[in-house]
Amino acid sequence: MAIFGAHVLVAFIVACAGLLWLRSRSSSKEMRDIPGTMGWPVIGETVSFISDFSSPAGILSFMRDRQKRFGKVFKTYVLGRITVFMTGREAAKILLSGKDGVVSLNLFYTGKQVLGPTSLLTTNGEEHKKLRRLIGEPLSIDALKKHFDFINELAVQTLDTWLGRRVLVLEEASSFTLKVIANMLVSLEPEGEEQEKFRANFKVISSSFASLPLKVPGTAFHRGLKARNRMYAMLDSVISRRRAGGEVRGDFLQTLLRKHAGDDADKLTDAQLKDNILTLLVAGHDTTTAGLTWLVKFLGENPEVLGKLREEHLQIRERLNGTSHLGWSDVNNMPYTNKVMNETLRRATILPWFSRKAAQDFSIDGYDVKKGTSVNLDVVSIHHDPAVFADPERFHPDRFDQTLKPYSFLGFGSGPRMCPGMNLARLEICVFVHHLVCRYSWKPLEEDDSVQPTLVRMPKNKYPIIATAL
Ligand code: HEM
Repeated sequence: MAIFGAHVLVAFIVACAGLLWLRSRSSSKEMRDIPGTMGWPVIGETVSFISDFSSPAGILSFMRDRQKRFGKVFKTYVLGRITVFMTGREAAKILLSGKDGVVSLNLFYTGKQVLGPTSLLTTNGEEHKKLRRLIGEPLSIDALKKHFDFINELAVQTLDTWLGRRVLVLEEASSFTLKVIANMLVSLEPEGEEQEKFRANFKVISSSFASLPLKVPGTAFHRGLKARNRMYAMLDSVISRRRAGGEVRGDFLQTLLRKHAGDDADKLTDAQLKDNILTLLVAGHDTTTAGLTWLVKFLGENPEVLGKLREEHLQIRERLNGTSHLGWSDVNNMPYTNKVMNETLRRATILPWFSRKAAQDFSIDGYDVKKGTSVNLDVVSIHHDPAVFADPERFHPDRFDQTLKPYSFLGFGSGPRMCPGMNLARLEICVFVHHLVCRYSWKPLEEDDSVQPTLVRMPKNKYPIIATAL
């Protein structure tokens, strides 16, 4: 019976993939003037796309190969949909500036279902603008000040455990960034049963985000929705305690409840609060984890950069009389660290493409793109353009000394969808890196540059190292 069930499931998936493929072929005809290839029947070019994505060179080889054959704008069929990839600063301006509502964000069906209808990532136009304004406030530099001590202490405690053991940097970064964001959003304590439950639910939600859209028991999508319901039940009880005045905290949730209460037109409903707390978790956790991990890896591979960075941090530590009592003003005075962070985001390009959907017909580079088409901005090629970044494979933070042309560096995106969590990400990374380089040197335990085949680029082997005290 189980085998029969599995066969039915496989047949269903193949049938769905076939239908998607047939539907896409008709829109391919509408876009016949755009160069490119649809690849194999049903799977299109998905196999080479995923295999290039996971290789050390990353998706850049897939893009370069097709750009050589077809130019800066080309079509392909990957991950179950026909997609037009485009690159260059001009394309970035058209797709990211938000001008004339040419495009909207393009999430997978599963992502939309998991995050809910009132998420920042599923709304557009005026509704999106309003949410950005409300959510942006508690994420501003000023508002983050009150979370500084928590982040600083947690970084020190995390690093206390590193000495002399095999450390998977990605696992450590993941635990650190989840504890930070959960505390910042809803004051979750970093240890204990609640944290464990929260972490377990979040992991299931994360892996369902880009899964097959099958809401059948046993599938990743079904498990993800169940975990989301458990997390929402937990948030419901926190929100009702706060609304009843039984609990007052200094976190993101409290700020929104306090500032926008009563009949305020900006009052957020419980559904909006929950969808957007989950959105910030999903959008902010893997990205910051990946950023921190890549940064440690690039430092390990570039001793001269590490030397310069350490100098900046040892000078700060000297001013602190050798203590770990880093202060808010210190973090705002780390010019070289900021360049290292930018160079990390350029070289790693954690989100290698930004997905949009044409909200109306438009033209680019002389090609007509029809309303409804998936359009991806290939950011990795923009970040490796030798005309802007000489010797693009080199890890060279000082290249950020020069002023860059608009839309040539998109580590945190640009325009109305630019990352609202960038101040938090920068803060977490600056603090963690300060304690890391002041205390330890480290060696990788494995040479493997492969990348996980997930939406956010991360080292596949989680970057195993052994740390020794300085
Ligand atoms: C190193 C860490 C991070 C990187 C590299 C990063 C990168 C980005 C990029 C490139 C975008 C724009 C994507 C697009 O235009 O399609 C974006 C959007 C977003 N980011 Fe981040 N991010 C990071 C950390 C965070 C954090 C910590 C949070 C939450 C506190 C966050 C929340 C968001 C949200 C909600 C959006 C969507 C904004 C909207 O659609 O209006 N990110 N991020």
